[in-house]
Amino acid sequence: MTRATTAESMSDRRDTRVTQARTTLLTGAASGIGRATAVRLASEGAQIFACDVDERGLAATVETITAAGGTAVAHRLDVADPAACRAAVAAAVARFGKLDVLCNIAGVMSWGHASEISEAEWNRVVAINLSGPFFLCRAAIPHLLATRGTIVNMASAAGTRGQAYTLPYSVTKAGVISLTQCLAVEYGKRGLRVVAVAPGGVKTALTSAVKFPDGADMSLVAKLMPLMPLAEPEEIAAAVAYLVSDEARFVNGAVLAIDGGQTAG
Ligand SMILES: NC(=O)c1ccc[n+]([C@@H]2O[C@H](COP(=O)([O-])OP(=O)(O)OC[C@H]3O[C@@H](n4cnc5c(N)ncnc54)[C@H](O)[C@@H]3O)[C@@H](O)[C@H]2O)c1
Repeated sequence: MTRATTAESMSDRRDTRVTQARTTLLTGAASGIGRATAVRLASEGAQIFACDVDERGLAATVETITAAGGTAVAHRLDVADPAACRAAVAAAVARFGKLDVLCNIAGVMSWGHASEISEAEWNRVVAINLSGPFFLCRAAIPHLLATRGTIVNMASAAGTRGQAYTLPYSVTKAGVISLTQCLAVEYGKRGLRVVAVAPGGVKTALTSAVKFPDGADMSLVAKLMPLMPLAEPEEIAAAVAYLVSDEARFVNGAVLAIDGGQTAG
């Protein structure tokens, strides 16, 4: 193969990727994995409708993207609010004319002994981590069917195994996996792909705030310790970039573990 042909095929490939990740509504865009994913997808040509409750963080993400020549719009969204989720999807479609990708990345952690979890804490974590993704999927599905689009849900290794001291978090992440699989089965034939990513430890605000409860039995949480150093948010973003691309055309209903082997054994 000549050098020219190689260069040509590389640019073809790049062009294909650019057309793959077009209009993207992404939650959790103000920080960590969400911010890294917004920046990565924008660098591949996606127009990002960046959502979060943290307006200052959102502004920083949008600034990073636009300074690099990309397109991003900040939209304050509390994913626990069903009407606001519906309005966010409508606003993204109004802004960009269609929706190709939904990335449900916003989430909160919760530490404590299971027997001491308050109703308020349970309801808060369920609302943000599980109801929010459902509200957004529900509102986005008609638009994503029109574009044969993709949903990526951020699950967690914590949702694939029993884990001490993170009950509401783990239960909601298991729910996110089921949400992913149910939608993949229901809509796959019509061209909508729904996938999940299940990271282990990633260097973000969420992991820097680890707080085992008083009296925690540390022998129960040994498996939480990753087999490798924590991942960078950009490593998770790279996986999302693949999952929303046409190269992942046959990937549907999958739960991609990125955890350094934490859940392999
Ligand atoms: N960091 C890890 O080790 C890890 C591992 C597995 C899964 N995850 C998941 O990755 C996702 C991103 O987490 P992160 O590690 O980047 O943490 P992060 O705290 O850096 O980012 C979470 C983002 O969600 C936003 N958010 C919180 N509540 C919201 C709400 N009600 N509405 C809209 N936005 C809201 C926050 O403002 C923040 O910007 C979460 O779903 C988390 O559960 C993280």
